[in-house]
Amino acid sequence: MSSSRAQGLDGVTPVDDVPAAFAATVQEAFTRRSGATFSLVLSGGPTARACYEHLAALPAGSIDWDAVDIYIGDERGVAPDDEDANQRLARESLIEPVGGVHAFFPMPTDGPLAHCAQRYDEVLHAALAVDAFDLVHLGLGPDGHTASLFPGSKGLDAPEDVYVVANTDPTGNNRHERLTITFSAIAHSRLCVVTVMGESKRDAVRALLDGEDLPAGRVRSGEVRWLLDEAALGSAVPR
Ligand code: 6PG
Repeated sequence: MSSSRAQGLDGVTPVDDVPAAFAATVQEAFTRRSGATFSLVLSGGPTARACYEHLAALPAGSIDWDAVDIYIGDERGVAPDDEDANQRLARESLIEPVGGVHAFFPMPTDGPLAHCAQRYDEVLHAALAVDAFDLVHLGLGPDGHTASLFPGSKGLDAPEDVYVVANTDPTGNNRHERLTITFSAIAHSRLCVVTVMGESKRDAVRALLDGEDLPAGRVRSGEVRWLLDEAALGSAVPR
């Protein structure tokens, strides 16, 4: 094994149905939560949407949503109801279908993003002063990004005590100015679940298995669980 191998990738095997496995993982984590509430940090993109739709469709009573606090892990610099807004995705695919949650903390985007980042950084500092996140959900971009932490971007080098930054993709491949949680915020979690679907992610997965330094490979948490489908894993055999 390479010493720089991403946490949790050793011996990973593909799952048949990533959204179903995600929903089951959240339910299990909710059931064994240590506190009265459960903090869940959400992601964006089509994979996340499929995962949240599956989660929302769990049989009634699987999760007590009145005990769930929802945070957002990254956001585009757009209005809350913009079709590219992750907070809209969270509302549409999860929060509204389950009839609301204990508390929802969307990332603010009204104003200069550096200022919005500071405001959400305060929200996360307040939350993490009380307890770690129960579960952070992340994805993997074809370029190896996770949340809005892009290869070569400034956000990769945020100081330890900063939990949220404004960031952009230096290649311009990923649209919009972004807000993103940092590796340091992610590290304050009991469990981090990374969902990866489709052949377009295969090269990034292979690079991570080979120990290449891609942003997603820098994720650290109490536990990191990779839920990859066969198309994403391809013929790469984790050693
Ligand atoms: C976002 C993300 C981003 C995403 C990856 C993978 O808001 O887009 O948080 O990091 O997770 O781009 O997305 P897909 O798996 O949906 O392609």
